[in-house]
Amino acid sequence: MKAKIIGTGSYLPKKILSNLDLERMVETSDEWIVSRTGMKERRIADDNEYPSTMGVEACKLAMMDAKVTPEEIDFIIVATLTPDYIFPSTACLIQESLGLKSAAAIDIQAACTGYLYALSIAKSFIESGVYNNILIVASEKLSSIVDYEDRSTCVLFGDGASAAVVSKNGPGLSVESVCLGADGEQAELLMLPGGGSRNPATQKTVNEKLHYIKMAGNEVFKHAVRRMEAASKQCLDQVQIKEEEVSWLVPHQANKRIIEAIAKRFTHLPSDKIFITVDRYGNTSASSIGIALDELMKTNTVKEGENLLLTAFGSGFTWGASLLKFTRNA
Ligand code: UT7
Repeated sequence: MKAKIIGTGSYLPKKILSNLDLERMVETSDEWIVSRTGMKERRIADDNEYPSTMGVEACKLAMMDAKVTPEEIDFIIVATLTPDYIFPSTACLIQESLGLKSAAAIDIQAACTGYLYALSIAKSFIESGVYNNILIVASEKLSSIVDYEDRSTCVLFGDGASAAVVSKNGPGLSVESVCLGADGEQAELLMLPGGGSRNPATQKTVNEKLHYIKMAGNEVFKHAVRRMEAASKQCLDQVQIKEEEVSWLVPHQANKRIIEAIAKRFTHLPSDKIFITVDRYGNTSASSIGIALDELMKTNTVKEGENLLLTAFGSGFTWGASLLKFTRNA
């Protein structure tokens, strides 16, 4: 028995931050941003929107899509690096808002690979028979940790949420395999230094801007391409599927050039089979492949028996890939 994604949902805040808006904030240009990242705009949460409230909206759509009721959810796993609070978990806040009376709840933190880590945990609980229906959620308010005076990072990130119901029964996307990896040696190349117990908030940490994302972009870029390619190929090997049998690639949306570099290493994948949202939403970290997967499924272009390859990379470093197969009759 394979766990299946039987419903997906996503939520994007209404407010748009365009490249032209950014031109008025820092020394940058639409030309630079588009040519270096492929991004044109990203969404920014309102002051009263949080990862929990955005996650709730994504979950409602995923549960409706899956035709499951709140009472049927056994477990909720939230992947986020911008939780509402350090504690209690964002998962508990969503659990309460949705009335998931019988669900256990936990947050996980695997940065931009969070969706795949959550999927892997859900797959294990379903296939071992512990739970029947699990909500996985990825929700980020990255605008709360971005320095809008730092042009090297502020153009890259956006806010948004995605969710999926992973179940024992039903038609949908069978989770054939999830491959995960990590390398803590590179932790300092992409991090938020302040606010944890090592550098708790003080006037000094605020003055030194330690509560904002710090990234060595160039270095991260190279690792991202290498790790996502390797994870994808490892995942295909594991399920003994050839590259040419992959119908769709749903990659983490950090930079269009990263996606193109990975695509080049998959010689059989035409560009219209690589699902792109980075132009509209920028990098939404853990949420990114979940949002892309939801949008792809809602286009109704995925056909019976087609294979979808998901891959992601993020701070830690963490990375992963997953092979999903679409089956309408299960
Ligand atoms: O989601 C987790 C994973 N994250 C990623 O995978 C992100 C990986 N990194 C990247 O996507 C790219 O490295 C960036 C988009 C962040 C940067 O692109 P790049 O082509 O690597 O540019 P760079 O950092 O090498 O900078 C090139 C130049 C520099 O100027 P000099 O030193 O050549 O004079 C930067 O100061 O571009 C300058 N620059 C900018 N110019 C205009 C950096 N940011 C900007 C900007 N507007 N926003």
